[in-house]
Amino acid sequence: MNDETRKELTAWLEFYQELGIEGFYRREAAAVESPPSLEAARPAPLAAAPPLKQVPPPAPARAAMTAAPPKTVAPPIPPPLVIRPPAPSFSLFEAPPAPKAGPETLQQIRQDLGDCQRCKLAPTRKTIVFGEGNPHAELVFIGEGPGADEDEQGLPFVGRAGKLLNRMMQTVGLKREDVYICNVVKCRPPGNRTPEKDEVDACSPFLYRQIEAIKPRLICCLGAPAVRTVLGIKEGITKIRGQFYDFGSTKALATVHPAYVLRNPREEKILREDFEKIRDFLKGA
Ligand code: URA
Repeated sequence: MNDETRKELTAWLEFYQELGIEGFYRREAAAVESPPSLEAARPAPLAAAPPLKQVPPPAPARAAMTAAPPKTVAPPIPPPLVIRPPAPSFSLFEAPPAPKAGPETLQQIRQDLGDCQRCKLAPTRKTIVFGEGNPHAELVFIGEGPGADEDEQGLPFVGRAGKLLNRMMQTVGLKREDVYICNVVKCRPPGNRTPEKDEVDACSPFLYRQIEAIKPRLICCLGAPAVRTVLGIKEGITKIRGQFYDFGSTKALATVHPAYVLRNPREEKILREDFEKIRDFLKGA
């Protein structure tokens, strides 16, 4: 090996050492078919490795690099700092977690009801009477279905029966704006007839959702259709009225419908008695 080759080889070895590549060995002359060349000295793995970074040229250029003054490169302008929430990590084979379902609001239920066409009351109604009152009421009144006045105004219990209901509430110190009032069906049955089973079946899921959204302490069922729908009790209202029942974690009381009292004024004392029970219940712990 002449001096020039030795120098060049030394420069190569130093260069590889700086890259962290060490442990070169020298092949025995007998094993070498042709005289060793610089190509043979190049470690094979480096040639096969993917070009991660540009390898500086050997000795002459490297010497120039160390000798030359460092190049002044303006630092890159850092991009604006954007803090992103960590990406959710779940396996491709797992379904992502379901969005947390909070309690439904009355607004959401009303939106879902939309321009309801789910039963045969839809074509003859003027307005859907969804319900009215405090969305966090302790007391919910449930009537049978809208009458002509309610269908006209879109509000529950605004006709004669409604006036009696208001008076009963006043008698026991309840304010209409503190309670929530709705019906078993939300559309007026033609001629104020009793709602039919298929109509109740189509509409009652919305009533249950309203109760679930409000979570009242007490439900007051006004009349037989409400008692049947909410409590599943088929017995006559005059038999079961004035009693408290369980409706999930809520209590329910059955009483006569104000319209019944309008037809039978002597029965007003029954309604008054039951309203006093409501008052006492709500006053309790
Ligand atoms: N009767 C009911 O049952 N509901 C009303 O909203 C009005 C009258």
